[in-house]
Amino acid sequence: MGAGVLAQTARASGDITNGDIAILRWLAAAEIIETDMWQQYNELGGIQDSEVPGGSGNEAFTDALEVLDEDMPVYVHDNTDDEISHVAFLNGFLTSIGAQPVNFSQFRTLPSSQATGAQQIGRLTNLMHLNVDTSWWLRYRSSHNPDFNFVFPQFINISNRPGIPPVDLPSGSDEIQAIANTAAFHFAAIEQGGSSLYSSLALKATNLTVLRIIVSIGGAEVNHFAIWHDKAGNAPAVTIPGSGGVRFPDMEDFNGNQTKQNNLIMPEPCAFIENGLPVCSVIRPTLTPNAGAHHAFHAFSASGIFLGQSQAFINELSSLASNADAAQRQL
Ligand SMILES: [Fe+2]
Repeated sequence: MGAGVLAQTARASGDITNGDIAILRWLAAAEIIETDMWQQYNELGGIQDSEVPGGSGNEAFTDALEVLDEDMPVYVHDNTDDEISHVAFLNGFLTSIGAQPVNFSQFRTLPSSQATGAQQIGRLTNLMHLNVDTSWWLRYRSSHNPDFNFVFPQFINISNRPGIPPVDLPSGSDEIQAIANTAAFHFAAIEQGGSSLYSSLALKATNLTVLRIIVSIGGAEVNHFAIWHDKAGNAPAVTIPGSGGVRFPDMEDFNGNQTKQNNLIMPEPCAFIENGLPVCSVIRPTLTPNAGAHHAFHAFSASGIFLGQSQAFINELSSLASNADAAQRQL
Protein backbone atom coordinates (compact mmCIF):
# COMPACT_ATOMS: atom_id res chain seq x y z
CA MET A 1 0.00 0.00 0.00
CA GLY A 2 2.87 2.38 0.88
CA ALA A 3 4.42 1.86 -2.51
CA GLY A 4 1.09 2.51 -4.19
CA VAL A 5 0.72 5.84 -2.42
CA LEU A 6 4.26 6.75 -3.44
CA ALA A 7 3.59 6.01 -7.07
CA GLN A 8 0.34 7.98 -6.95
CA THR A 9 2.08 10.98 -5.42
CA ALA A 10 4.75 10.82 -8.09
CA ARG A 11 2.23 10.56 -10.88
CA ALA A 12 0.11 13.35 -9.44
CA SER A 13 3.03 15.76 -9.75
CA GLY A 14 3.41 15.11 -13.48
CA ASP A 15 4.32 12.20 -15.66
CA ILE A 16 7.48 10.34 -14.84
CA THR A 17 9.35 10.22 -18.13
CA ASN A 18 11.63 7.49 -19.44
CA GLY A 19 14.43 10.00 -18.89
CA ASP A 20 13.47 10.30 -15.23
CA ILE A 21 13.61 6.51 -14.89
CA ALA A 22 16.99 6.40 -16.66
CA ILE A 23 18.35 9.00 -14.23
CA LEU A 24 17.06 7.08 -11.20
CA ARG A 25 18.42 3.78 -12.54
CA TRP A 26 21.89 5.26 -13.07
CA LEU A 27 21.80 6.81 -9.60
CA ALA A 28 20.78 3.44 -8.13
CA ALA A 29 23.76 1.89 -9.95
CA ALA A 30 26.14 4.58 -8.68
CA GLU A 31 24.82 4.15 -5.14
CA ILE A 32 25.28 0.37 -5.31
CA ILE A 33 28.91 0.99 -6.29
CA GLU A 34 29.34 3.58 -3.53
CA THR A 35 27.79 1.21 -1.01
CA ASP A 36 30.12 -1.61 -2.03
CA MET A 37 33.13 0.63 -1.39
CA TRP A 38 31.79 2.03 1.87
CA GLN A 39 30.89 -1.43 3.12
CA GLN A 40 34.51 -2.53 2.65
CA TYR A 41 35.75 0.56 4.49
CA ASN A 42 33.25 0.04 7.29
CA GLU A 43 34.09 -3.61 7.86
CA LEU A 44 37.69 -2.65 8.61
CA GLY A 45 37.56 0.94 9.85
CA GLY A 46 34.00 1.69 10.98
CA ILE A 47 32.01 1.16 14.15
CA GLN A 48 30.81 -2.44 14.22
CA ASP A 49 27.14 -2.83 15.03
CA SER A 50 23.88 -4.35 13.81
CA GLU A 51 22.88 -1.21 11.88
CA VAL A 52 25.68 -1.87 9.36
CA PRO A 53 26.51 -5.55 9.87
CA GLY A 54 29.13 -7.63 8.12
CA GLY A 55 32.62 -6.92 9.37
CA SER A 56 34.36 -7.15 12.70
CA GLY A 57 36.85 -4.26 12.50
CA ASN A 58 40.60 -4.01 12.03
CA GLU A 59 42.34 -2.40 14.96
CA ALA A 60 45.46 -1.20 13.13
CA PHE A 61 43.42 0.42 10.33
CA THR A 62 40.90 1.92 12.76
CA ASP A 63 43.73 3.37 14.87
CA ALA A 64 45.32 4.90 11.75
CA LEU A 65 41.99 6.49 10.72
CA GLU A 66 41.60 7.85 14.26
CA VAL A 67 44.89 9.71 13.84
CA LEU A 68 42.90 12.01 11.51
CA ASP A 69 39.93 12.33 13.88
CA GLU A 70 38.71 10.15 16.71
CA ASP A 71 35.21 10.18 15.16
CA MET A 72 36.38 8.67 11.85
CA PRO A 73 34.94 5.19 12.64
CA VAL A 74 31.51 6.75 13.42
CA TYR A 75 31.57 8.79 10.23
CA VAL A 76 32.61 5.78 8.12
CA HIS A 77 29.78 3.78 9.66
CA ASP A 78 27.18 6.49 9.11
CA ASN A 79 28.28 7.24 5.56
CA THR A 80 27.90 3.52 4.83
CA ASP A 81 24.46 3.48 6.44
CA ASP A 82 23.45 6.48 4.29
CA GLU A 83 24.59 4.80 1.06
CA ILE A 84 22.69 1.63 1.93
CA SER A 85 19.57 3.77 2.41
CA HIS A 86 20.13 5.52 -0.94
CA VAL A 87 20.22 2.17 -2.76
CA ALA A 88 17.18 0.82 -0.92
CA PHE A 89 15.20 4.00 -1.53
CA LEU A 90 16.06 4.43 -5.22
CA ASN A 91 15.35 0.78 -6.01
CA GLY A 92 12.23 0.88 -3.83
CA PHE A 93 10.97 3.95 -5.66
CA LEU A 94 11.71 2.43 -9.06
CA THR A 95 9.75 -0.67 -8.09
CA SER A 96 6.86 1.44 -6.75
CA ILE A 97 6.38 3.12 -10.13
CA GLY A 98 6.62 -0.16 -12.03
CA ALA A 99 10.17 0.45 -13.29
CA GLN A 100 13.01 -2.06 -13.13
CA PRO A 101 15.30 -1.74 -10.10
CA VAL A 102 19.08 -2.19 -10.50
CA ASN A 103 20.72 -5.40 -9.31
CA PHE A 104 24.44 -6.16 -9.68
CA SER A 105 24.50 -9.36 -7.58
CA GLN A 106 25.92 -11.43 -10.43
CA PHE A 107 28.91 -9.07 -10.65
CA ARG A 108 30.01 -9.40 -7.03
CA THR A 109 33.06 -11.42 -7.95
CA LEU A 110 36.11 -9.46 -6.71
CA PRO A 111 38.08 -10.69 -3.68
CA SER A 112 37.83 -9.28 -0.17
CA SER A 113 40.74 -7.98 1.89
CA GLN A 114 42.55 -10.73 3.79
CA ALA A 115 43.00 -8.46 6.80
CA THR A 116 41.28 -9.26 10.08
CA GLY A 117 37.78 -7.77 10.15
CA ALA A 118 36.77 -8.16 6.51
CA GLN A 119 33.97 -10.49 5.45
CA GLN A 120 35.06 -13.05 2.89
CA ILE A 121 32.48 -12.33 0.20
CA GLY A 122 32.51 -11.32 -3.46
CA ARG A 123 32.86 -7.57 -4.04
CA LEU A 124 31.79 -5.28 -6.83
CA THR A 125 34.73 -2.91 -6.39
CA ASN A 126 38.47 -3.17 -5.87
CA LEU A 127 40.01 -0.87 -3.26
CA MET A 128 43.52 -2.31 -3.51
CA HIS A 129 44.86 -0.30 -6.47
CA LEU A 130 43.31 3.13 -6.16
CA ASN A 131 44.20 6.13 -8.25
CA VAL A 132 42.65 8.74 -6.02
CA ASP A 133 41.66 11.97 -7.75
CA THR A 134 42.77 14.70 -5.33
CA SER A 135 42.20 17.63 -7.70
CA TRP A 136 39.03 18.54 -5.76
CA TRP A 137 41.27 19.88 -3.00
CA LEU A 138 42.57 22.57 -5.35
CA ARG A 139 39.25 22.96 -7.20
CA TYR A 140 37.24 23.93 -4.12
CA ARG A 141 39.88 26.48 -3.07
CA SER A 142 39.94 28.13 -6.51
CA SER A 143 37.80 30.75 -8.25
CA HIS A 144 38.13 28.68 -11.43
CA ASN A 145 35.50 26.15 -12.47
CA PRO A 146 35.96 23.04 -14.67
CA ASP A 147 32.71 24.04 -16.44
CA PHE A 148 34.76 26.91 -17.94
CA ASN A 149 37.35 24.45 -19.26
CA PHE A 150 39.75 24.97 -16.36
CA VAL A 151 41.78 21.83 -15.63
CA PHE A 152 43.08 21.23 -12.11
CA PRO A 153 46.21 19.22 -11.35
CA GLN A 154 46.41 16.68 -8.54
CA PHE A 155 47.03 17.94 -5.00
CA ILE A 156 48.67 14.68 -3.90
CA ASN A 157 49.65 11.90 -6.29
CA ILE A 158 47.98 8.72 -5.06
CA SER A 159 48.48 6.14 -7.77
CA ASN A 160 47.91 2.38 -7.57
CA ARG A 161 47.68 2.46 -3.78
CA PRO A 162 45.44 0.49 -1.39
CA GLY A 163 42.64 2.28 0.47
CA ILE A 164 42.15 -0.66 2.83
CA PRO A 165 44.83 -2.98 4.24
CA PRO A 166 45.07 -6.02 1.91
CA VAL A 167 46.46 -8.05 4.84
CA ASP A 168 47.09 -7.36 8.52
CA LEU A 169 49.71 -4.62 8.93
CA PRO A 170 51.49 -3.41 12.06
CA SER A 171 49.62 -0.82 14.09
CA GLY A 172 51.32 2.56 13.93
CA SER A 173 53.39 1.70 10.85
CA ASP A 174 53.91 4.13 7.97
CA GLU A 175 52.30 1.56 5.68
CA ILE A 176 48.99 1.46 7.56
CA GLN A 177 48.97 5.26 7.99
CA ALA A 178 49.51 5.77 4.25
CA ILE A 179 46.52 3.47 3.63
CA ALA A 180 44.33 5.41 6.10
CA ASN A 181 45.40 8.71 4.49
CA THR A 182 44.61 7.29 1.05
CA ALA A 183 41.19 6.22 2.32
CA ALA A 184 40.52 9.69 3.74
CA PHE A 185 41.24 11.38 0.41
CA HIS A 186 39.24 8.69 -1.38
CA PHE A 187 36.22 9.29 0.92
CA ALA A 188 36.14 12.94 -0.14
CA ALA A 189 36.82 12.07 -3.78
CA ILE A 190 33.80 9.75 -3.86
CA GLU A 191 31.44 12.22 -2.24
CA GLN A 192 32.50 15.32 -4.20
CA GLY A 193 31.85 13.23 -7.32
CA GLY A 194 28.37 12.45 -6.00
CA SER A 195 27.79 16.14 -5.27
CA SER A 196 28.54 17.09 -8.89
CA LEU A 197 26.67 14.09 -10.31
CA TYR A 198 23.39 14.79 -8.52
CA SER A 199 23.56 18.51 -9.33
CA SER A 200 24.13 17.67 -12.98
CA LEU A 201 21.30 15.14 -13.25
CA ALA A 202 18.81 17.36 -11.41
CA LEU A 203 18.84 19.59 -14.49
CA LYS A 204 17.46 16.73 -16.60
CA ALA A 205 14.55 15.66 -14.40
CA THR A 206 11.00 16.33 -15.52
CA ASN A 207 8.80 14.98 -12.74
CA LEU A 208 8.79 17.04 -9.53
CA THR A 209 8.97 14.04 -7.20
CA VAL A 210 11.95 12.72 -9.14
CA LEU A 211 13.58 16.16 -8.88
CA ARG A 212 12.88 16.15 -5.14
CA ILE A 213 14.59 12.77 -4.80
CA ILE A 214 17.65 13.92 -6.78
CA VAL A 215 18.21 17.20 -4.94
CA SER A 216 17.50 15.66 -1.54
CA ILE A 217 19.89 12.70 -1.89
CA GLY A 218 22.35 15.03 -3.61
CA GLY A 219 22.34 17.20 -0.52
CA ALA A 220 23.44 14.23 1.59
CA GLU A 221 26.38 13.67 -0.80
CA VAL A 222 27.40 17.31 -0.32
CA ASN A 223 27.13 16.90 3.44
CA HIS A 224 29.42 13.83 3.27
CA PHE A 225 31.92 15.64 1.08
CA ALA A 226 32.16 18.58 3.48
CA ILE A 227 32.95 16.29 6.42
CA TRP A 228 35.55 14.27 4.51
CA HIS A 229 37.13 17.41 3.10
CA ASP A 230 37.72 18.59 6.66
CA LYS A 231 39.05 15.22 7.85
CA ALA A 232 41.42 14.69 4.91
CA GLY A 233 43.14 17.90 5.96
CA ASN A 234 44.18 16.16 9.19
CA ALA A 235 46.12 13.44 7.35
CA PRO A 236 49.58 13.30 8.93
CA ALA A 237 52.76 13.53 6.88
CA VAL A 238 53.91 10.08 5.83
CA THR A 239 56.05 8.81 2.98
CA ILE A 240 56.24 5.34 1.46
CA PRO A 241 59.42 5.60 -0.59
CA GLY A 242 60.22 4.09 -3.94
CA SER A 243 58.17 3.27 -7.00
CA GLY A 244 54.64 2.40 -5.98
CA GLY A 245 55.03 4.64 -2.95
CA VAL A 246 53.21 7.78 -1.94
CA ARG A 247 54.06 11.01 -0.15
CA PHE A 248 51.57 12.81 2.07
CA PRO A 249 52.96 16.26 2.85
CA ASP A 250 52.99 18.09 6.17
CA MET A 251 49.77 20.13 5.89
CA GLU A 252 51.27 22.84 8.13
CA ASP A 253 53.57 23.71 5.23
CA PHE A 254 50.53 25.11 3.36
CA ASN A 255 49.48 27.61 6.02
CA GLY A 256 49.06 30.97 4.30
CA ASN A 257 48.72 29.32 0.88
CA GLN A 258 45.14 30.01 -0.32
CA THR A 259 45.28 27.20 -2.87
CA LYS A 260 46.19 24.46 -0.38
CA GLN A 261 45.67 25.51 3.25
CA ASN A 262 43.87 22.71 5.06
CA ASN A 263 41.18 24.66 6.92
CA LEU A 264 39.92 26.49 3.83
CA ILE A 265 37.17 23.93 3.37
CA MET A 266 34.25 26.25 2.55
CA PRO A 267 33.73 26.27 -1.24
CA GLU A 268 35.60 29.30 -2.58
CA PRO A 269 33.32 31.45 -4.76
CA CYS A 270 34.03 30.57 -8.39
CA ALA A 271 32.98 31.35 -11.94
CA PHE A 272 29.40 30.20 -12.49
CA ILE A 273 26.94 30.21 -15.42
CA GLU A 274 28.73 32.91 -17.38
CA ASN A 275 31.98 34.83 -17.25
CA GLY A 276 31.25 38.40 -16.22
CA LEU A 277 28.71 37.43 -13.55
CA PRO A 278 29.88 37.70 -9.95
CA VAL A 279 31.70 34.62 -8.63
CA CYS A 280 29.53 32.32 -6.53
CA SER A 281 30.16 29.62 -3.93
CA VAL A 282 28.66 26.53 -5.58
CA ILE A 283 29.13 22.86 -6.35
CA ARG A 284 31.47 22.62 -9.32
CA PRO A 285 31.42 21.21 -11.99
CA THR A 286 27.74 20.63 -12.86
CA LEU A 287 27.64 20.47 -16.66
CA THR A 288 26.94 17.06 -18.21
CA PRO A 289 30.34 16.53 -19.91
CA ASN A 290 32.17 17.35 -16.64
CA ALA A 291 29.78 16.01 -14.03
CA GLY A 292 27.13 13.81 -15.66
CA ALA A 293 26.61 10.08 -15.54
CA HIS A 294 29.22 9.20 -18.15
CA HIS A 295 31.74 11.46 -16.48
CA ALA A 296 31.06 9.65 -13.20
CA PHE A 297 31.39 6.28 -14.93
CA HIS A 298 34.80 7.33 -16.33
CA ALA A 299 35.89 8.72 -12.97
CA PHE A 300 34.96 5.42 -11.29
CA SER A 301 36.89 3.49 -13.95
CA ALA A 302 39.96 5.75 -13.82
CA SER A 303 40.11 5.35 -10.03
CA GLY A 304 40.86 1.64 -10.46
CA ILE A 305 37.83 0.34 -8.58
CA PHE A 306 36.75 -1.89 -11.47
CA LEU A 307 40.10 -3.64 -11.77
CA GLY A 308 39.25 -7.32 -12.31
CA GLN A 309 35.62 -6.64 -13.20
CA SER A 310 34.00 -8.33 -16.20
CA GLN A 311 33.39 -6.54 -19.48
CA ALA A 312 29.70 -7.38 -19.07
CA PHE A 313 29.57 -5.27 -15.92
CA ILE A 314 31.42 -2.36 -17.55
CA ASN A 315 29.07 -2.53 -20.54
CA GLU A 316 25.96 -2.54 -18.38
CA LEU A 317 27.24 0.40 -16.35
CA SER A 318 28.20 2.35 -19.44
CA SER A 319 24.76 1.80 -20.94
CA LEU A 320 22.99 2.95 -17.76
CA ALA A 321 25.18 6.08 -17.76
CA SER A 322 24.47 6.86 -21.42
CA ASN A 323 20.71 6.53 -20.88
CA ALA A 324 20.84 8.89 -17.88
CA ASP A 325 22.86 11.54 -19.71
CA ALA A 326 20.45 11.31 -22.65
CA ALA A 327 17.51 12.28 -20.42
CA GLN A 328 15.99 15.66 -21.23
CA ARG A 329 13.83 17.87 -19.09
CA GLN A 330 10.44 17.84 -20.81
CA LEU A 331 8.71 21.02 -19.72
FE1 LIG B 1 24.94 8.10 -1.79
